[in-house]
Amino acid sequence: MAKALITYASMSGNTEDIAVIIRDALQEYELDIDCIEIEDVDVTALTSYDYVLIGTYTWGDGDLPYEAEDFFEAVKQLQLNGLKTACFGSGDYSYPKFCEAVNLFSSMLQEAGAAVYQETLKIELAPETDEDAESCRAFAKGFLAWADYMNKEKSHVS
Ligand SMILES: Cc1cc2nc3c(=O)[nH]c(=O)nc-3n(C[C@H](O)[C@H](O)[C@H](O)COP(=O)(O)O)c2cc1C
Repeated sequence: MAKALITYASMSGNTEDIAVIIRDALQEYELDIDCIEIEDVDVTALTSYDYVLIGTYTWGDGDLPYEAEDFFEAVKQLQLNGLKTACFGSGDYSYPKFCEAVNLFSSMLQEAGAAVYQETLKIELAPETDEDAESCRAFAKGFLAWADYMNKEKSHVS
């Protein structure tokens, strides 16, 4: 069974709520899913997953949360060899750099050699509305469809 990691940094629970909706959406597929806080991830085991989804809120002036920094720096050192990844998070439009930490993760993963899903999911505060929840589910399903397509392309070429 394919393995998925959903990991998140969440101070007041908004990003965690998004992660849970994503997890529930992915549970409809045959996947072995770990959904854990970013500080509890064993970075050396990251490449044992088929899919990695990273969630973060944004802090300071478009900064990473403090508790995501060690994970970020450790992953940056890895060779991710096309690992299928996606990034999501919660932010607040009253700050000039809305959900910038999501973009920081996305760029870093790209540089570390991951295959990064082009779409990011950025939710204002908590995913409270039906529309927010639907965006989370669509993101999860879109990511898997994309990853599946990438896998087929790869096996077709080789
Ligand atoms: C000091 C501080 C700085 C913040 N800076 C940003 C920011 O630069 N960009 C942004 O989109 N949100 C910013 N936020 C808003 C949080 O990212 C937002 O409240 C988010 O929903 C928190 O997610 P969490 O519940 O998962 O911790 C900031 C919040 C605080 C308290």
